Amino acid sequence: MKQPLTLALTKGRILKETLPLLAQAGIEPLEDVHVSRKLIFETNNPAIRMIIIRGTDVPTYVRHGAADIGVVGKDILLEHGAEGLYEPLDLGIARCRLMTAGPVGWIGGGARIRVASKYENITRQYFAERGVHADVIKLYGAMELAPLMDLADLIVDIVDTGNTLRANGMEPLEEIASISSRLIVNKAAMRSQFSAIEDVINGLSAAVRSS
Ligand code: PRP
Repeated sequence: MKQPLTLALTKGRILKETLPLLAQAGIEPLEDVHVSRKLIFETNNPAIRMIIIRGTDVPTYVRHGAADIGVVGKDILLEHGAEGLYEPLDLGIARCRLMTAGPVGWIGGGARIRVASKYENITRQYFAERGVHADVIKLYGAMELAPLMDLADLIVDIVDTGNTLRANGMEPLEEIASISSRLIVNKAAMRSQFSAIEDVINGLSAAVRSS
């Protein structure tokens, strides 16, 4: 039998907003993905299955063809590159902004600044383009803590409501990019499984338009 089409979904907040769109497109997991510890889920369509993984791993699975289609934040695509991938659809979910942020009232001025982020490449490029010498400190989470502990002067992070910044005495400074979740497709699969993939893209496009 032909291998089912595999959708790689980003777990967490993006997943919560992805499932209703998929349901509108007629694709629903056979069990509650929020309860199960499984990583592969069959769906009501025997020709489609889902895997649920970290956002940073989604492009890797899709690029290597281990998954055919993925749902991932634009921030991940900007940071890790989108080579080998088509990006046919903006799902318009998990909208937020990638921003620089600093302690309230922070005034720069030093010859170098220290910037903490999990977006190392974006951060380096952003400050380099502005001629600012930035030492980028790679972190994996809780970026807002870094200036409080004098590990960094500024951070580059996702801002949604701004609550996390406010709660830690920080404020947003400049917007680097507007972020939402994107559909990505493996280039070879787009050719070999065109009709099945086109059905998913069309179903999701309609769901996005109606939501
Ligand atoms: C993200 C981001 C901020 C927060 C912003 O973290 O890193 O900490 O959300 O949201 P807000 O503006 O609404 O407060 P997330 O909770 O996704 O966890 P993470 O650190 O694992 O990315």
